[in-house]
Amino acid sequence: MKITKICCIGAGYVGGPTMAVIAQKCPEIKVTVVDINQARIDAWNGEDLDKLPVYEPGLDKVVSEARGRNLFFSTDVNKAIEEAEMVFISVNTPTKTYGEGKGQAADLKWVELCARQIAAASTTDKIVVEKSTLPVRTAQAVKDILDNTGNGLKFQILSNPEFLAEGTAIEDLLFADRVLIGGDSSPEGQEAIQALVDIYSHWIPREKILTTNVWSSELSKLTANAFLAQRVSSINAISELCEVTGADVNEVARAIGADSRIGSKFLKASVGFGGSCFQKDILNMVYISRSYGLHAVADYWEQVIIMNDHQKARFAKNIIKALYNTVSGKKITFFGWAFKKDTNDTRESAAIYVADYLISEQAQICVYDPKVSAEKIYADLDYLNTRSSEENRKYVTVLSDPYEAVDSAHAVAVLTEWDEFLEYDWDKIFQSMLQPAQIFDGRNILPHKDLSKIGFRVKAIGKSF
Ligand SMILES: NC(=O)c1ccc[n+]([C@@H]2O[C@H](COP(=O)([O-])OP(=O)(O)OC[C@H]3O[C@@H](n4cnc5c(N)ncnc54)[C@H](O)[C@@H]3O)[C@@H](O)[C@H]2O)c1
Repeated sequence: MKITKICCIGAGYVGGPTMAVIAQKCPEIKVTVVDINQARIDAWNGEDLDKLPVYEPGLDKVVSEARGRNLFFSTDVNKAIEEAEMVFISVNTPTKTYGEGKGQAADLKWVELCARQIAAASTTDKIVVEKSTLPVRTAQAVKDILDNTGNGLKFQILSNPEFLAEGTAIEDLLFADRVLIGGDSSPEGQEAIQALVDIYSHWIPREKILTTNVWSSELSKLTANAFLAQRVSSINAISELCEVTGADVNEVARAIGADSRIGSKFLKASVGFGGSCFQKDILNMVYISRSYGLHAVADYWEQVIIMNDHQKARFAKNIIKALYNTVSGKKITFFGWAFKKDTNDTRESAAIYVADYLISEQAQICVYDPKVSAEKIYADLDYLNTRSSEENRKYVTVLSDPYEAVDSAHAVAVLTEWDEFLEYDWDKIFQSMLQPAQIFDGRNILPHKDLSKIGFRVKAIGKSF
C-alpha cells in the first residue's frame, strides 16, 4: 500500500518536528499537521522561523524546506483526516489530575477524542498510528472506538512511539537509533506495518526499523523512559553519598561509565530530571503495574520518582542552609528555567519545584533563561496552585539580561545547563553580587575551581568542597 497523504493530529513538540522530517525526507507525500490550538498553528505558519512554537536546533531549516511544498499546518482537522490514508495521533497524554488514577494514570481523554473524530471524519479505510506515548493495551480501546463508530470502514492500528529527545529532536529523527513499529499479525496488519516501514525507509536503514506486536511496542516506550530516568535517579542517589564521603560524583560516573556493560550516557548527576515524559511515563507504569496487582514492580519503579523529588527538595534545602538558614527577602538568581538546554519546554522542570520551595521560604527569585518567556514562568508556578498568581508575581522577577539578573543577589542557582553560562564574565558577576557570593550549580557545568578562586562560595551536586 502506497501512502500519498498523511495527517498528524497534534502540532506539539513531537508532532511538529516528526512530521517536518517525514515531509522533508518524503517529498512525494503530502503531510498535514493539524491542531485545535489556533495560535500554535498560526505560529507554525508564521513568516518568522525564529518564532516557531517549538524551539529545536535545526528545525527552522527543515520547516523552511518543506513548508508549503508538502508540509502544511492547519486547524481543519476533519479535512486532513478525510483525505489521508494514514493518520498519526500525536496529542498530549498527561498524568490525570482528577478521579480514578489521579496523579499516576495517563489521561487518555485527548486520544479518545481523536479516535472518535477519525471515525466520524473518515470516508475511506485508514491506518491509524499511535505516536503519543500510551499505556500498554491502549490500541485495543482505539480500535474498539473506531470499529464501533466508524461507518463500517476498516482501520488498522499501529504503535509507533517516538524516542526523540527535546533539544536534539532533529538529529534524533534523522539518525534514529531505531524506529519501532508495532502492529497486528494479520495480513492486513502486516500490510499496514509495511506501509509505515516504507516511509521510514526513505532515510532510516532497514535494520534499524524494528517491528513487533502492538503491546510490545507500547510497553517498550514506557520501559525506555523508565530505564533512562532510573539511571538519573541512581547517579543522583550516589551524588548525595558523594557529598558526605568526599567522593566526587563526576569521577564516580566516569569510572563506572567506562564499563561497557554500564555505558557512559545518562550518568550526569543534577538537580533532578524534568520534562513532560519521564515522570508521567513512570507513574503510568506504576499505575498499570498496581492495577494488575504487581505491587513489587510498582514500588520498584515508584522509587525512581521518589528519589527525583528528594533531589529537587535537597537542592533547595542546601541553598537555604548555606544562606544561614533563612532566605526570606533574599534575592536568589536562577540561571535557566527550561528542563534542559536547547529547548523552550519547561514541563516538569526542576526549576519550578526549587523556586516553589524557596518562595514558600519567602525568597525573592530572579530568573534568566535565554529561551523561556516570563509568561511561561509565571504560568508554571501558577499551575502548582501553591499560592495566588499575584503572590507568585510578588516573589518572582524575570529579566532578559543575565548581568542585570544577578545584581545584588545573594546567590546564583544554575538550573539548566545552557552553554552560554560558561561564557559569562564571572568576575563581573562576582563584583555585582552581595558578599559572600554563593553559587549552587545544579547541573555541574561551571568551572568550580576558577569560581572559587574569584571568591565565590561554590556548591555543586555530588561534590564536597
Ligand atoms: N515531548 C517529548 O519529548 C516527547 C517525546 C516522545 C514522546 N512524547 C509523547 O508524544 C505525545 C505528544 O507530546 P508533545 O510533547 O508533542 O505534546 P504537546 O502538548 O506539545 O502537543 C500536543 C498537541 O496536541 C493538540 N491536541 C490535543 N488534542 C487534540 C485534538 N483532539 N485535536 C487536535 N489537536 C489536539 C494540543 O493542542 C497540542 O498542541 C505525548 O504522548 C508524549 O508523551 C513526547
